[in-house]
Amino acid sequence: MDKILVTGGLGFIGSHTVVELQNEGFEVVVIDDLSNSSIDVLSGITSITGKSPVFEILDLKDKQKVQGFFKNHQDIKGVIHFAASKAVGESVQNPLKYYENNLNTLVYVLQELSVLPASNFIFSSSCTVYGQADVMPITENAPVKSAESPYGNTKQIGEEIIQDTCKVVPNLKAISLRYFNPIGAHPTAKIGELPIGVPQNLVPFITQTAAGLRDCLSVFGDDYPTADGTCIRDYIHVVDLAKAHVVALQRLLSDKNEANYETFNVGTGVGSSVLEVIQSFERVSRLALNYKIAPRREGDVIQAYANTAKANNVLGWKAQSTLDDAMKSAWLWEKQIRNL
Ligand SMILES: NC(=O)c1ccc[n+]([C@@H]2O[C@H](COP(=O)([O-])OP(=O)(O)OC[C@H]3O[C@@H](n4cnc5c(N)ncnc54)[C@H](O)[C@@H]3O)[C@@H](O)[C@H]2O)c1
Repeated sequence: MDKILVTGGLGFIGSHTVVELQNEGFEVVVIDDLSNSSIDVLSGITSITGKSPVFEILDLKDKQKVQGFFKNHQDIKGVIHFAASKAVGESVQNPLKYYENNLNTLVYVLQELSVLPASNFIFSSSCTVYGQADVMPITENAPVKSAESPYGNTKQIGEEIIQDTCKVVPNLKAISLRYFNPIGAHPTAKIGELPIGVPQNLVPFITQTAAGLRDCLSVFGDDYPTADGTCIRDYIHVVDLAKAHVVALQRLLSDKNEANYETFNVGTGVGSSVLEVIQSFERVSRLALNYKIAPRREGDVIQAYANTAKANNVLGWKAQSTLDDAMKSAWLWEKQIRNL
């Protein structure tokens, strides 16, 4: 049973990944400072897997605490690093919070991990590194474009920090997973996404509107050069995404990596428009969603969906769930947390 550290492991994607790691027999240690999650997630995880992960409340911006943690856990075989702040709008208002939290935590963890005998590292990156890519679907070789926000910039700089470190620390093996748009929840509805305040993302906004928390969903722009005029994204079920982390970690643990730094797109390869997501929700929930067309929103790219050939053929992972599966799980989760 290899011991794996999951930072940010009580967050949306982290909690689902802890479940999949435990299902595969890993011993999981979770660090989270609860800045964007709840301690209740721990019991959600435990009730799904029957196993409680070791948990430490720790702010990874505290370098001494990070050093102390690794001193006590020299037998860690790998780290999956989710911990970061992720609100794009807030990052524009408060860039230094984002540079401090997303980059200092990464550096401190890498400093400790890279001196351990087993230094395997998985990083949460994002398709935002591609900006508005010129060619669809987007391959890993598409150019990294100038970031639209400080948040997006932390993902680009984060990847560079890891790549530069891998060049000089041969012992360190790392994979950046570039997520497309994670949605949905665990099918048991025991864990899911818990946005604080007004959701920034489409799917929680849809489910909160249907649950009566929001009056109306605004669809930002229906005059884009797409089939129905609304923006297109690649929505990936969070459980599929969680499984991609396990596969990536196993690749490093079994020395199957081709270089000590690799990147993979994690998406379905299918682009869905905002209106198609709404239709999917209406289909699975049998409800009519209250929505209106609003003006375009600044900074939105027209379309982004993944070429998944490298993830499918080299990593050996493929998304299994459909958009309807994901919307169904998101709605089940929303109903569960609102007691509907
Ligand atoms: N959700 C998305 O759409 C998306 C897309 C691409 C990439 N990502 C990246 O994936 C990762 C996970 O995203 P998520 O949606 O699960 O976010 P999340 O906010 O639900 O999870 C992040 C977790 O990290 C914790 N955390 C933050 N700063 C910390 C610190 N200094 N010390 C310890 N814990 C800290 C938070 O409390 C939270 O539980 C992030 O790095 C995010 O940038 C997310």
